[in-house]
Amino acid sequence: MNKTTISKVGHFVGQEVKIGAWLANKRSSGKIAFFQLRDGTGFIQGVVVKAEVGEEIFLKAKNITQESSLYVTGVVREDERAPSGYELTVTNVEVIHEAIDYPITPKEHGTEFLMDHRHLWLRSKKQHANMKVRNEIIRATYEFFNKEGFVKVDPPILTGSAPEGTTELFATKYFDEDAYLSQSGQLYMEATAMALGKVFSFGPTFRAEKSKTRRHLIEFWMIEPEMAFYEFEDNLKVQEEYVSYVVQSVLKNCSIELKALGRNTSKLENIVAPFPRISYDDAIKLLHEKGFDDIEWGDDFGAPHETAIAETYDKPVFITHYPTSLKPFYMQPDPINDKVVLCADMIAPEGYGEIIGGSERIHDYELLAKRMKEHDLDLDAYKWYAELRKYGSVPHSGFGLGLERTVAWICGVEHVRETIPFPRLLNRLYP
Ligand code: 4AD
Ligand code: MG
Repeated sequence: MNKTTISKVGHFVGQEVKIGAWLANKRSSGKIAFFQLRDGTGFIQGVVVKAEVGEEIFLKAKNITQESSLYVTGVVREDERAPSGYELTVTNVEVIHEAIDYPITPKEHGTEFLMDHRHLWLRSKKQHANMKVRNEIIRATYEFFNKEGFVKVDPPILTGSAPEGTTELFATKYFDEDAYLSQSGQLYMEATAMALGKVFSFGPTFRAEKSKTRRHLIEFWMIEPEMAFYEFEDNLKVQEEYVSYVVQSVLKNCSIELKALGRNTSKLENIVAPFPRISYDDAIKLLHEKGFDDIEWGDDFGAPHETAIAETYDKPVFITHYPTSLKPFYMQPDPINDKVVLCADMIAPEGYGEIIGGSERIHDYELLAKRMKEHDLDLDAYKWYAELRKYGSVPHSGFGLGLERTVAWICGVEHVRETIPFPRLLNRLYP
């Protein structure tokens, strides 16, 4: 007999197969039982017909509890109505382990309850789909950057420096020294770009932000490319091509998952480079036109502002040239107006907010030293970083894409807590 997985049953139409699975859900009458089976690779319906399997197997099948683990034997049938395209006519069931009183039942549960049971909630269809899409984004990311000649490098997690401001750091001891958990690998990525040309990283980052919004995690994963000889415009081009590539890959390879999530895919099909751009100055004007009277030049945008700007477009939009005062010390001033920097945030459509922050970096040593002093940064701790500007400095640019916000947008999931297996949130370290 063929032992296989739900994702591969299509190879065995008309044949009997054996699948290790869990019983996600069940409906039954006196004569027939419908199993919702899941095995990690997918979901499939198993049909148990009393007249075919006999009294004994039917009775056993009818009494199997939700989330019990099983070996199911059955014949694979094509079924157009099934999301996966197949159904299993069950011939036998072997219970491996009986689950008693599984806490997450098909009825509605509150978010806190589900978050307390995240270790089990992950098994549900939507959470499963979120994780599969997350995986596809990661896979497509590696594929894109490898194809474009980037080298994957891994910056440290334990660091002595704080690229995105000193207020949101997780401090720890590094033997006798003070250390922090990385809030961005960028500064190290700049060093590796000077060695390898085009690089990207993918790793966890930590921000002790006291933010309790649907877009904020305390621990999140970031993809950070950095490119030598790339100027502002070159940087935007990679970003729009990268994000388009990722979205199109998900559409191609995750159609079952997007369907399970009820995602409107026509909105995603539209995500093809180039993306629109709007300067910070014009964004302020646009907000005034839209009735946001309070916002003034020099203010940062909040979630409602970002959403209002993004609503104007049906693709992600770059907001460029923010005031220098709003952005970190390392951003290159605009040569025509040094009150603004050569940066861009990419704002996702449909209200999902900023998914990318990026900029051209300062490559002049004196200017960098001046900006660091203005930001009260300890020049000794950043000596190595400044030194990159002393030995063959070149214009360079990079960006960071927040994985969880990107998953939330592509999946159409309201809150980032559902886009990472075990979210770290303000007030939540369990499970
Ligand atoms: O805009 P940010 O802070 O930029 C940087 O860290 C740069 N050093 C990146 C670089 O140029 N290499 O963060 C980048 C992205 C944001 O656009 C957002 O998508 C995500 O990281 N992000 C968060 N995601 C979830 N929870 C949080 N608390 C986040 N903070 C930032
Ligand atoms: Mg940002």
